Amino acid sequence: MTEKPDPLAVPFGTVFCDWMATARAEDGPLVYGGSPEPFGDLTISPAAHVLHYGSSIFEGLKAHRQPDGSVAIFRLDTHVARMVTSAALLRLPEIDPDILLQMIVDAVEANADEVPEPPGSLYIRPTFVGTGADIGAAAHPAPSALLFVVNSPVGDYFKGGIRPLTLQLETLTPRTVPQFGMVKCAANYAMALGSTMDAMAANEAIDQVLFATDGDITETGASNFFLADNERVVTRHLDESFLHGVTRDSVIQLARHHGYEIEERPIDPEELIDWSERGEAFLSGTAAGIAPVGTILYSGKALTIGSGQPGPNTMRLRQALTAIQTGTAPDPFNWRTTVQIRG
Ligand SMILES: Cc1ncc(COP(=O)(O)O)c(C=O)c1O
Repeated sequence: MTEKPDPLAVPFGTVFCDWMATARAEDGPLVYGGSPEPFGDLTISPAAHVLHYGSSIFEGLKAHRQPDGSVAIFRLDTHVARMVTSAALLRLPEIDPDILLQMIVDAVEANADEVPEPPGSLYIRPTFVGTGADIGAAAHPAPSALLFVVNSPVGDYFKGGIRPLTLQLETLTPRTVPQFGMVKCAANYAMALGSTMDAMAANEAIDQVLFATDGDITETGASNFFLADNERVVTRHLDESFLHGVTRDSVIQLARHHGYEIEERPIDPEELIDWSERGEAFLSGTAAGIAPVGTILYSGKALTIGSGQPGPNTMRLRQALTAIQTGTAPDPFNWRTTVQIRG
């Protein structure tokens, strides 16, 4: 087997672990054989529902190497629950949460020796696609489906590590259609790609587009959005229009635990002007964790947020989250699931 590149030296998500777990639903419930198999190509019909009608959902979660050498998956149950919901919203066959949970644990166990030391981690990507061979099924759900879990050892999501990010505020084109915002489906990412690419082509400093359709700031193409100062953290209240990030929920619980007030409410772009003078902004997501925002480009202006550098409250929350994930702090919320390491 050819030697794999150092995952911390290559782009995020481009190296894959040796093992994956798969399960199929064939006109009935999902069946999992009970053990992982070697990572490799999958076979589906060219008439598969996913290839024509976009029946594809996925999850993204991480496992972290702990100080004692073991490996712990972060917020496993919550990610499993979100995927079960996504499957239902896309009318895919039902996912039995126990099967998905077991597949994730089995894959991580099998790949445990490929989990990098922090700040690296293991990115876990469960994916569920409609496989029924029927190109007439535009208005029918896929009766058959394939669930698979692949793992990727990863380093930093954003090139350059922890640095203040630059966001472009997008007020015209939405990320996705409102009723699908909270579904983690592949089509949402296809829809957001055009506006993200256009923004980046116009200005190479842009790291992410922050969607604020009709003056309502929700999320970027890959993370949720927060404002913070010494007393409070502010983020958009939950509804169907954007992804209910697991990291978002973790930040809220952690911030409350650290004595911050939590405001979940609409955020108007005009508010950013005031916050830029006295506050902080950050993104939250599994891939990047808590990532500081230094500049927001809005209606022809470049708003420098605070000093333009990572703010103290952002870094305090980031450190607290990372410490729980990597096992250097206690786990008061029961967020870690430790997997067995095969001898
Ligand atoms: C569009 C979008 N919003 C928010 C998030 C953050 O979600 P989580 O914290 O569950 O990773 C993600 C990450 O997958 C995302 O793709």
